[in-house]
Amino acid sequence: MTTQALKYQSQSVAKLYFIAAMVLFAGQILFGVTLGLQYLIGDLFFPYIPFNIARMVHTNLLIVWLLFGFMGAAYYMIPEEAETELHSPALAIALFWIFLIAGAATILGYLLVPYAKLAELTGNDLLQTMGREFLEQPLPTKVGIVVVALGFLFNISMTVLKGRKTAITLVLLMGLWGLALMFLFSFVNPHNLVRDKMYWWFVVHLWVEGVWELILASLLAYVLVKTTGVDREVIDKWMYIIIAFALMSGLLGTGHHFFFIGMPGYWLWIGSIFSALEPLPFFLMAVFAFNMVQQRRRNHPNQAAVLWAVGTSVMGFLGAGLWGFIHTLAPVNYYTHGSQITAAHGHLAFFGAYVMVVIAIISYAMPTLRGRLANSQKSQALEMWSFWVMCIGMGIMVLALTAAGTVQVWLQRLPETNALGFMATQDELRIFYWVRIGGGITFLIGQFMYFASFFVGGQHVLPGDKHHKHGHDSHGGAGSNPLHAQPAQRLNGRI
Ligand code: HEM
Ligand code: HEM
Ligand SMILES: [Fe+2]
Repeated sequence: MTTQALKYQSQSVAKLYFIAAMVLFAGQILFGVTLGLQYLIGDLFFPYIPFNIARMVHTNLLIVWLLFGFMGAAYYMIPEEAETELHSPALAIALFWIFLIAGAATILGYLLVPYAKLAELTGNDLLQTMGREFLEQPLPTKVGIVVVALGFLFNISMTVLKGRKTAITLVLLMGLWGLALMFLFSFVNPHNLVRDKMYWWFVVHLWVEGVWELILASLLAYVLVKTTGVDREVIDKWMYIIIAFALMSGLLGTGHHFFFIGMPGYWLWIGSIFSALEPLPFFLMAVFAFNMVQQRRRNHPNQAAVLWAVGTSVMGFLGAGLWGFIHTLAPVNYYTHGSQITAAHGHLAFFGAYVMVVIAIISYAMPTLRGRLANSQKSQALEMWSFWVMCIGMGIMVLALTAAGTVQVWLQRLPETNALGFMATQDELRIFYWVRIGGGITFLIGQFMYFASFFVGGQHVLPGDKHHKHGHDSHGGAGSNPLHAQPAQRLNGRI
């Protein structure tokens, strides 16, 4: 059965990666809710899980599960795109376990050993790399990440080299190689605080507003090619335009983090101007997704995947484009820097652009990894509900944080005299933090519904079902399948 829904047997290694990603995603959200509660009940779980540790676990789990998702996506997409089996499925499986064990050990280390002790135990004195947000991993973990990344890149690059080269794989490879390359700056941690911060942003900014955007564009294009059947030439053109805009704006856009860290003053201009252009590629992605769905040449039975693909383009634009823009100009950032506005943006951008695109590819791929073309209508209906509940939960969180941030700036940053202190301001913001917890719990419920949709039965769409030409890019016009066109149409209406 499995072999029928999959064009290449070795694509099946992706399943492990996707399952691990989902388990770690669950952990990330549990720690997120813990953090949200600790904002209101300061000593919750103290001294066992202090806020700083929970925060580190929350953000590190996010990054790690997104990396699992990207790798799974690559292992799934590349054999099919390259029209050849993966260079080494065994290597992919070995690296999976290495990454999972190293990741789990690191998280346990965070939770069980005081951070300073962990640094001492893991050789931080040899090369000091610890202590920077998102890059808190001990040295052996960082080295492990590099080893896994190199093995992974070797594996997928060899596959592409021996097979068909498509624009989608080319952009994906560029993004993934860039991701690994930029991570090397996590080993550069000079004592000079200005240079320390600068290299830190070389990883964090050039990831999310640089090379990861290539990965995003490639995953999105892939899901759209598969589900809409629109010609590749059209989709490739869009993708190239999007990544050109992403790189043109995003690279020098790094300057929006150099405003107040001690870098030369010209960065106020460079950072403001280039980062103001950064919403463009995200906007184009949204136009792209809607266009492709409008021009679709068939109604793929997996409409849940289409919903996630369109959703990621919209939410990514809102989170990165709109919420990024509101605080990116230097005169604005002067007031908002490091406030709750930043947290609002960080959440919506990460969720909209990267969490949702990984779910989109999982939503498309997972049924095929389980021998189906698409899940049953019942399962897809629940999945689509989970989409809305998660998006609404995130929306509530982000609006609450945006309001909190605005009041924070108003009380603490704007007044020339008699500005409220940091903690006194926080006391005024509690109502917003309660709303944020409401949004967080809504999100948690949506996530639970999403996981539950994997276990909902009903009549799944199987490869044997007539008229489904799986794997071909441009087969079957809209409505060519009397059996499924109608339900698909009906689900379409929910986008
Ligand atoms: C999907 C893409 C993006 C993601 C995942 C993302 C994520 C984040 C995160 C997590 C932070 C907080 C970093 C920290 O200080 O700990 C941040 C900061 C920031 N982001 Fe983004 N971002 C994205 C795109 C953008 C875009 C397109 C813009 C501009 C239009 C932007 C503007 C900013 C600015 C100005 C800051 C600094 C905020 C401050 O000074 O406190 N971001 N971003
Ligand atoms: C997929 C969903 C989520 C994503 C992508 C996400 C992402 C992030 C990121 C990137 C940060 C660092 C922010 C920054 O530096 O500005 C963060 C911190 C945080 N997150 Fe989440 N998060 C998610 C869900 C949640 C949930 C459900 C809650 C629960 C209420 C939550 C609560 C928090 C809190 C309280 C912090 C610490 C903020 C601070 O230091 O003031 N997150 N999250
Ligand atoms: Fe940035």
